[in-house]
Amino acid sequence: MQQNYHTMRYNIFFMSGTGNSLTVANNIANNLNSKHIPTGIYNIENRTNIKDINRGSVGIVFPTHGFTAPWLVIKFVATLKFGNWRPAFTICTRAGARIGKVYTPGLGGSANLIVALLLLIRGYRPKIWGAVDMPSNWMAIHPALSNKTCREIYQRAKKRTDILAEKIANNSTHIFNPNNIYDLIPGIILLQISFMYIIFFRFFLAKLFFASYKCTSCGLCAEYCMTNAIKMIGKKAPKPYWKLRCESCMRCIGYCPHKAIEVGHSWAIILFMIAGASGLPAIVVNNIIPQHLINEWWIVWLTILLAFPSIVIAYYIFHLINRVHFINKLFSFTTFTRLFKKYKHTGVNINRFKS
Ligand SMILES: Cc1cc2nc3c(=O)[nH]c(=O)nc-3n(C[C@H](O)[C@H](O)[C@H](O)COP(=O)(O)O)c2cc1C
Repeated sequence: MQQNYHTMRYNIFFMSGTGNSLTVANNIANNLNSKHIPTGIYNIENRTNIKDINRGSVGIVFPTHGFTAPWLVIKFVATLKFGNWRPAFTICTRAGARIGKVYTPGLGGSANLIVALLLLIRGYRPKIWGAVDMPSNWMAIHPALSNKTCREIYQRAKKRTDILAEKIANNSTHIFNPNNIYDLIPGIILLQISFMYIIFFRFFLAKLFFASYKCTSCGLCAEYCMTNAIKMIGKKAPKPYWKLRCESCMRCIGYCPHKAIEVGHSWAIILFMIAGASGLPAIVVNNIIPQHLINEWWIVWLTILLAFPSIVIAYYIFHLINRVHFINKLFSFTTFTRLFKKYKHTGVNINRFKS
């Protein structure tokens, strides 16, 4: 039966650390183009190209981070030009996995909700909210899934993406379905954690990366980084240094040709203690100031505020002492990431991220 698709142009904006969200965005774009709906696909990280993009409907495709949308995506959507109430869609990719014979979904939490609200504020109608399970890429906490499991998850994701593309093409509304409710309820319950992720945890995570003794100073990590968060420091044999604007997208780990990028697990314990110790002045203040003038949130905020300079200074020292071979080996051997299989979506070309 001949379908009547609408012919509004779609601009799909994506963010993708290791290629999952790019694959989903590509699949939606191919689907829409095959239905004669003109569709462009643009990378959020190259914001300069984006200013000149034709007006049209908007789609946002991105990974879930900390049960919500990454800061880069939030910032981008919040500054979109007014949409004159054109239709829009938001699709987050989640950490899919397989336990035995059962495929387990990730948890998108408030990811689509936040993006949909921002789209609404920017004058779009977010009619389709979708979540697609792709292989989990969070290599800081677990090894990559086996190639076979990844292939199976890709096949399932392709089917799910085809369904979403059909709904987008039909201009239908797809919000309150079981898949989204599954995300939304815990998403709202976990909002405080997501908020803490955005304002603090992501900075802490950025300061856990380091280059092991396998690093050849090739600088590819800095070149590929989506937020230019990696700076090569040092004249002779420069080594990568992660700035606070890192999104922990895992691209550097996934694409390092020498598998030299680690997340310091032993270092995380030290840094956590340093960040915690930053709360000491807050406790002192608590004892000096009359109790009726303060509450416990005051202390939490002061601790967070003081933890920032502490972790930045501590990380700089960590970066410097890691140049000493035996210290670097010590930290490299006391991280689990050394043992973890690394993940990247092999079906996408890293250069496509930069186009
Ligand atoms: C720092 C970080 C946090 C993540 N948090 C979540 C999460 O809260 N829920 C989830 O389902 N997946 C989570 N993931 C998994 C990714 O969202 C998922 O693997 C996604 O498909 C990666 O897409 P990309 O390759 O386009 O970046 C997280 C991944 C990273 C690196």
